[in-house]
Amino acid sequence: MKFFIDTANLAEIQEAYDLGVLDGVTTNPSLMAKEGITGQANILAHYKAICDIVDDNVSAEVIATDYETMVVEGRALAQIDSKIVVKIPMIKDGVKAIKTLSSEGIRTNCTLIFNAGQAILAAKAGASYISPFLGRLDDISMDGLELIDQIVTIFDNYDFETEILAASIRHNIHLIKCAEMGAHIATCPLKVILGLLKHPLTDKGLEIFLADYAKGNS
Ligand code: E4P
Repeated sequence: MKFFIDTANLAEIQEAYDLGVLDGVTTNPSLMAKEGITGQANILAHYKAICDIVDDNVSAEVIATDYETMVVEGRALAQIDSKIVVKIPMIKDGVKAIKTLSSEGIRTNCTLIFNAGQAILAAKAGASYISPFLGRLDDISMDGLELIDQIVTIFDNYDFETEILAASIRHNIHLIKCAEMGAHIATCPLKVILGLLKHPLTDKGLEIFLADYAKGNS
C-alpha cells in the first residue's frame, strides 16, 4: 500500500518524507488556501517546492470546470515537473479532460468521487488514480469504507489499471480498513500517519526494558 500525505504544508511533507514511508502528496485548493498560498505564480511555485521534497506523485488540482480550460491548465501543471499528477474533478467535462490528458501521457487523479459509478467512468476515461472521499461520506451518515470495498471489487472484476486512492481519511481505522480491503493508496494527514506508530503497550514495554537495563548497568 502506498502512503500519500494530504497537505500543502512543506514542513509536514518533509517530516513524512524523512520517516521514509512517503510515496506522494495530494493537495487541493482548500489545502493550498490553508497554507496562505494564493495567486497563480505562487501556487505553481509551491507545487514545484513540493516536487523538490518527494520522489513522485504530487497531485495538483485544476481550477477550471470547462473541458478546454481544464486541458490547458492540466498541460501547464504537468509542465512544472514530471512528478505532477493532474487532479480533475468528477464532472462531465472533467471526464473528457481526463481522456484527453491521459491519451497525451499525462497522469490524472479524478477527485470528488462519491459513488462506484463515478469511479467506473473515471477509470474508463483513463484516470491513473481515482479519489473516493470516505470521510466526507461518513460525515453525512453514509459508509465511506463500504464504497472503497465496492470499488476494489469492481476494479478487480475488470482488471482496471486505475489505482484506488482512498481520500478524506480521518483516522487510523479508516487507513487500516482500506489496507484490508485492498485500496492501492491512502492519502491522509500527517497525524494519521504518525498515529500508526502508537500503542500504549509499546510505550510501556520500552519503559520497562530501559528501566531493567538501567538496574543492571548502574
Ligand atoms: C485528497 O485528495 C482530498 O482532497 C482530501 O483527502 C479531502 O479530505 P477532507 O475531506 O478531509 O477535506
